Amino acid sequence: MAALANEPAKLLSNEPVGPRLFLMELESPYIARTILPGQFVHMRVNQMADHILRRPFSVYRTDPGEGRVVILYQVVGYGTDYLTGLSPEADPAIELVGPVGRPWGARTGGERADAGRVLLVAGGVGAAPLYLLAQQLVERGAKVDMVMGAQTRSALVTLSDYRERLGIGVECATDDGTYGERGFCTGLASRRLDGGCASDGAPYDLVCCCGPEPLMRIVSDMAAEVGVACQVSMERRMACGVGACLSCVVDTAAGKRRACVDGPVFDADEVVWR
Ligand SMILES: Cc1cc2nc3c(=O)[nH]c(=O)nc-3n(C[C@H](O)[C@H](O)[C@H](O)COP(=O)(O)OP(=O)(O)OC[C@H]3O[C@@H](n4cnc5c(N)ncnc54)[C@H](O)[C@@H]3O)c2cc1C
Ligand code: FES
Repeated sequence: MAALANEPAKLLSNEPVGPRLFLMELESPYIARTILPGQFVHMRVNQMADHILRRPFSVYRTDPGEGRVVILYQVVGYGTDYLTGLSPEADPAIELVGPVGRPWGARTGGERADAGRVLLVAGGVGAAPLYLLAQQLVERGAKVDMVMGAQTRSALVTLSDYRERLGIGVECATDDGTYGERGFCTGLASRRLDGGCASDGAPYDLVCCCGPEPLMRIVSDMAAEVGVACQVSMERRMACGVGACLSCVVDTAAGKRRACVDGPVFDADEVVWR
């Protein structure tokens, strides 16, 4: 895996794309070239002097040739709200530390994910850390299906990227029923796991899930029931991001592990869910 670097990143665009959702494009050649699916960056905006902690974000898409990365972020608090006010014209001083963490496939699913049948399950902004993985899987000839959940239709901002750029079959559920099935995407995931891969009906080799922890826990249980390996991305609150402060620990069968350096991707069956 590539060495951790602290790279100044030039802001290229920062646009609202859905309810409390923004796409930010940055020029960050080292990150664009080296980041692996599932790894993340720790972002710092130097003007946020009263808020010194970095904020972790997955890289949603990359353009390694142009040295660009795209981050999809949801506004939840001070830091993400501050980000919404940044514009390329003001040329804010942004630094990305990365690539951080262990990628998808680094544990049990790795080999099987390369050429097998993979089901991706995304809840809300959990669709962001799965795109690079989906792209890699498609390039390697895997059969990939996806189940995506969101509160409402306008929050399904990644859907066209998955469907049109990657050609993946995506089934959707929305809490309010404005698109796809009404309710949570766990029902869709359960039927997919029972029915097998859409293209040939054979069982999946791997499930990769990112979203709220209750969703990941249910998907993890469902995958275990049908005997399919499952990986989850644990988005714990982080402070140092380098394994020193223990603010991000995840209880696992092997004891406490740090989501920043031992994760964020874990085999679901090793997580002791809280
Ligand atoms: C590995 C990793 C990858 C991530 N990738 C993305 C991404 O691609 N897009 C994205 O929008 N967000 C992502 N997050 C979550 C993002 O880091 C937080 O939403 C952000 O740090 C919140 O900062 P804030 O200052 O706005 O919130 P704060 O003011 O610090 O907190 C406001 C609220 O947000 C909640 N919150 C804070 N941190 C997190 C967190 N890590 N996960 C969930 N809720 C949190 C708090 O509980 C609180 O309710 C990721 C987190 C991790 C650990
Ligand atoms: S954020 Fe400090 S140990 Fe993980």
